[in-house]
Amino acid sequence: MDDAATAAFLELLRFPSISTEPAHRGDVEACARWVVARFRAMGLEAELCPTAGHPVVWARNAHRPGRRTVMIYGHYDVQPADPLELWEHPPFEPRVRDGVVTARGATDNKGQFFAHMLGIEGALRERGELPVNLIFLVEGEEEVGSPSLVPFLEANRERLRCDVIALSDTGMVARGHPTFSYGLRGLTALELRVTGPATDLHSGIYGGAVANPAMALARLLASLHDEGGRVAVPGFYDGVRAVEPWEREAWSGLPMGEGLLLEMTGAPRLDGEVGFTALERIWARPTAEINGMGSGYQGPGSKTVLPSHAFAKLTFRLVPDQEPAEIQDKVIAHLRARCPASVRLDIERGHSGSPYLVDPRAGFGAAACRALRRTFGGKEPALVREGGSVPIVADFKRILGADALLLGLALPDCRIHAPNENFPLENLEYGARLNRALLEEIAAA
Ligand code: BES
Ligand code: MN
Repeated sequence: MDDAATAAFLELLRFPSISTEPAHRGDVEACARWVVARFRAMGLEAELCPTAGHPVVWARNAHRPGRRTVMIYGHYDVQPADPLELWEHPPFEPRVRDGVVTARGATDNKGQFFAHMLGIEGALRERGELPVNLIFLVEGEEEVGSPSLVPFLEANRERLRCDVIALSDTGMVARGHPTFSYGLRGLTALELRVTGPATDLHSGIYGGAVANPAMALARLLASLHDEGGRVAVPGFYDGVRAVEPWEREAWSGLPMGEGLLLEMTGAPRLDGEVGFTALERIWARPTAEINGMGSGYQGPGSKTVLPSHAFAKLTFRLVPDQEPAEIQDKVIAHLRARCPASVRLDIERGHSGSPYLVDPRAGFGAAACRALRRTFGGKEPALVREGGSVPIVADFKRILGADALLLGLALPDCRIHAPNENFPLENLEYGARLNRALLEEIAAA
């Protein structure tokens, strides 16, 4: 990667574009403006499009009839950086060591979409044009579920009409190992609040005669799974597609065994639904997770209190063909049926995203695989699904009718959403070359 490209990447990483924190609203917009300016400097037409939330950046080259239209999608917003004390340096003051850049957003998603910008910039500089009609869309709300992008897609169908969409916002199975993701899990969020007495009570004066909301919530949460690690909500698995034999076979040969998962996570051992391998559990099976919970006294020492309420934040990862709204209904019915009359249960429905799955050999899949081979020295791409979610991908299909090619550049140890998130400059280079190969292969397909 040349010095100017690296310097520009570091500039992009300096914006604390944290979409969920209202205090960073101005930083998010400044980041969007930087991206617009960069597109214009590359010779593309670019616009900052205001929305009800953070702005969308839209750019394109001069479109000509008779060529394929390709949309590249990315997100310039990032996750919060906390816990700050676990970072080796401030998260928005990027550091380069041994060719690896550390900063919040380095992989998710600034490094990955900026690599595509560099590919386009290189092609325009050398050839003066691209082999396809290009639309480049970079949003600022992916990490909060893309609430404004869906109406933006609906309002701009014409401007966004394309043959296929490509994005790099998923993982590689190993360094230097090209990876094509043909599936994403969806998700749906719920927040539970269990209320008992009107205020915290002395647990000696009242304990035993008044229900403890923390205990009631613990029992409700425990009822979500059975002994075999399956989700015990009636109907939860309705419509779940079986893992295909070819997938089992392909995944068992990947350099991503259970040893690597133990090493990456530091967990004492792996766990999950009986009858499935770890990769199958992550990529092809739905889950119920507690993302946060709280109740009662959290300070040092002991306090004999009977808390008045308890809460838990839940998300369910979904696979084809589960429907987020139906899953919410089923979980709510399950919890309500089990909630004792001695407490009140309030349930708030949260954001959702549908799962996504395509045949990796259909459509432009073969062209994408050729581009991956060309970029990574002829190595055969791994065909994988992802446990993570990029909800907008299913919306692209629903609203624009276009399939998405998920050509991830995130390494297993990139620490996205965690302290010391990092991205190797090598992948910036790979990504830029991949972009050029991809546009050529799609133009020729
Ligand atoms: N890029 C990630 C999703 C991802 C990570 C896919 C790793 C595959 C491998 C994305 O930015 C993300 O974190 N999405 C959120 C969803 C959102 C609605 C909060 C997720 O998966 O939790
Ligand atoms: Mn992302």
